[in-house]
Amino acid sequence: MKTQSYYRLKRQTAIVTGANSGIGKSIAINLAREGANVVINYHSREEDTREVIEEIKSFGGEAMGFKADVSREAEVDAMFRKTIETYGTIHILVNNAGIQMDAPIDQMSIEQWQKVIDVNLTGTFLCSRLAITEFKKRGVDEQVSVSAGKIICISSVHEIIPWAGRANYAASKGGMMLLMKSMAQETAPHMIRINSIGPGAIKTSINKEYWSDPEKAKKMLELIPYNRLGEPEDIARAAVWLASDESEYVTGTTLFVDGGMTLYPGFAEGG
Ligand code: BGC
Repeated sequence: MKTQSYYRLKRQTAIVTGANSGIGKSIAINLAREGANVVINYHSREEDTREVIEEIKSFGGEAMGFKADVSREAEVDAMFRKTIETYGTIHILVNNAGIQMDAPIDQMSIEQWQKVIDVNLTGTFLCSRLAITEFKKRGVDEQVSVSAGKIICISSVHEIIPWAGRANYAASKGGMMLLMKSMAQETAPHMIRINSIGPGAIKTSINKEYWSDPEKAKKMLELIPYNRLGEPEDIARAAVWLASDESEYVTGTTLFVDGGMTLYPGFAEGG
């Protein structure tokens, strides 16, 4: 009889990009709670990274930090090399690193456009490419997982909802959707699963300016039928599920975790 492990991600290794705050931090901690070794990728604020590692070690988990700009090929290469050297291989990649640099389209600089595309979209390409290389090389190890590897892209409701004043961000997430689906189609025959999570308004530093202001927070709630802002944990629980064998037959899809934001609440009484 196959023995069932209480830990859903035991003996697996994960890289989580942008994992020293917000959604990435919560995902990293929850993957570690399920037994995975976790690489905490970060770009700045080493102190925050140390705190995440300490928290993981406090419950007996395993983690290490790695500083890399996900939009730079050489830095991503170095991160994967170090991960494989330390933990032997990699089973889970979470493309979480993401930024916003908002501006009306006619005032958007090429730097604001390029930086957002570089981190959100090119970063996802560079990390996924190396993860897939390793997954294909190793293949399925049934002692560990029924899949050769899993990639989870942290997208946004804005992969389908247009967003005035943030065309660079919405374009990066719309691009991420078809990058995710194309990669999923290409790699499914290799038993590799690739999916996205589309978070709605989750309370993190990226949108603090809005949820910390009572007036603006009220306007945000009008866009959420479930009537509360999301917490990083809401996303982390979905990420653990997508990384685990419980979602074995799921690939090439976006799971919106958004309290109904993608249900077009404006139409609840209108239209
Ligand atoms: C953005 C947040 C925003 C949310 C809902 C996210 O992708 O990063 O700033 O609050 O979408 O609009």
